[in-house]
Formats: sequence, structure tokens, C-alpha cells
Amino acid sequence: MPLLDNKTCIITGGAGSLGLAAAKLFLDEGANVALIDLSMQALEQAAKDLPKDRVELIAADVSRATDAALYVGRTVGRFGPLDVLFSNAGNFGRVAPIHDYPEDVFDRVLEVHVKGAFLAAKHAVPQMNDGGSIIITSSVAGMRGDAGVYAYITAKHAQVGLMRCLAKELASRRIRVNTIHPGPIDNAFQLHVEKGLGEAIGGDGTEFFNARIPLGRHGTPEEIARSVLYLASDQSSFVTGTTLMVDGGMSV
Ligand SMILES: NC(=O)c1ccc[n+]([C@@H]2O[C@H](COP(=O)([O-])OP(=O)(O)OC[C@H]3O[C@@H](n4cnc5c(N)ncnc54)[C@H](O)[C@@H]3O)[C@@H](O)[C@H]2O)c1
Repeated sequence: MPLLDNKTCIITGGAGSLGLAAAKLFLDEGANVALIDLSMQALEQAAKDLPKDRVELIAADVSRATDAALYVGRTVGRFGPLDVLFSNAGNFGRVAPIHDYPEDVFDRVLEVHVKGAFLAAKHAVPQMNDGGSIIITSSVAGMRGDAGVYAYITAKHAQVGLMRCLAKELASRRIRVNTIHPGPIDNAFQLHVEKGLGEAIGGDGTEFFNARIPLGRHGTPEEIARSVLYLASDQSSFVTGTTLMVDGGMSV
């Protein structure tokens, strides 16, 4: 029996690398999937090979309450009550010393990761079946500090607090809530981070990270998607309130 047979799933950041990898795996396991992202054009491009009868594309900004109400409502209207919310949309912001860190960048990064995950849960939970699963994409950056990465690291830590509150509140409905913490992934999002880092340290940003990962390499989007599937499905039926590191040992 497929792991997500006929389940209704929302994936935010669905046009991006990790969101799309999770969508493919969820669909392989029998789910109906709503992909949420900022641009319809990006969503259509990402979803061009996905089965249209089981995929809904919704352009929305996760940091806006009206958009959260809209994407939850449309998903439930098409596929029925929710079973899985994968709250995954993200932006990186900037690296700068504290006295120079732009306030507007700080605000926007927190809006997307923290307010976005809060609003997703606020609107999704009343429409979710008992026994559902919420997964929030934090990061290895949600477990450690690094100079200059003020907005992103603060946001990724805050998501853990949100997850823990939700896990306690929703346990009585058997809704499980967890964060997943990817290490550096071989994709455009991370490459952008590493280019900036490389310029700052005058070296190779990718090698800088590999030297700090015990398994000695970046992860793949598919490796993260498999861990998301574990948390989304009944395979993890006794797992809630946890911070699942999928980082090649980087946080050890
Ligand atoms: N790539 C990595 O190495 C890595 C490591 C750890 C954690 N993460 C986290 O994984 C998640 C997915 O990142 P990714 O690597 O797939 O990057 P990505 O850039 O490919 O995907 C992120 C998606 O989120 C969307 N998005 C941004 N702001 C949004 C908003 N306001 N509303 C709706 N959608 C919005 C973007 O348009 C993009 O499609 C992010 O939360 C990121 O912080 C990534």
C-alpha cells in the first residue's frame, strides 16, 4: 500500500528544489498535492511533468494571511481535508556584521520563514484530519550560530519554537509536528550562499562546507525528500516534537 494513498498534502516553496523533490515522492506514494509558491510561471515550469489530475498549483505569498487562507481553502476545496502540511518556503537574506545588517532584510526573512510557517499552521490546522502531519523545513542553521547570518539563523531557530508549541497543542488530535534540518544541499539556493561565503573568505565556499560535514559531501534534494516522506507518513507514527537532522553529521 502506498505511504500517502489519497492523502491531501500542501507543500509551500513548491516550485523550489526541496519542495519539488518532496512533491514527486509524495505523488509516487499516492498523494494529491497542492504546490504553493510566489510565481505561477515558476510553478507551471516546476510541475510540467507532474500528473495534472493530482496536482493543484497556487500562487501565494506565505507571509500574507489572506494568501494562507486562500491556498488552504483551494486545496481543501479540490482534494478534501488536509493530511500533510510541508511548510518549506524560504529565502536566505544576507550575511553582514550586526551593525550593518539591513533591518528590512531581517524583517523579510523572518516574515517568510516564521510568520509564513505560523500562518500556514493557523489556517491549515482547523482543516486537518486527526492523525495528520506538519513538517517545517528548518536547517542545520536552526541548531547553531554563525557570524553575520542574523536573519536566516534567527528564523530557523524560531521555527523550532513554533514546532514545539504546535506539537504539544495538537498531540490530542494525533497531529504530529516536526522540523527537518537539512545540511548543505547540492542546489541553487545553497550555491548562492556559498558564492557569497567564498567572496567573504577568499576561498571556495563549497569546499568550506564539505570540510565541516563528516560524510564529506552535500546532500541531494531526494535525500531530504525521503526524510520528509518519513515524517509525513505513518512510518513516523510515534515521532512528534522532534528536530530531525539530515545533514551528513554536520551538527555533531
Ligand atoms: N538548499 C539548502 O542547502 C538548504 C539547507 C537547509 C535548509 N534549507 C531550507 O529548505 C527550504 C527550501 O529551500 P530550497 O533549497 O528548496 O531553495 P529554493 O530557493 O529552491 O526553494 C525555496 C522556494 O520558496 C519560495 N518562496 C520564497 N519566499 C516565498 C514566499 N514568501 N511565499 C511563497 N514561496 C516563497 C521560493 O520562490 C522558492 O521556490 C527553505 O526553507 C530553506 O531555507 C535549504
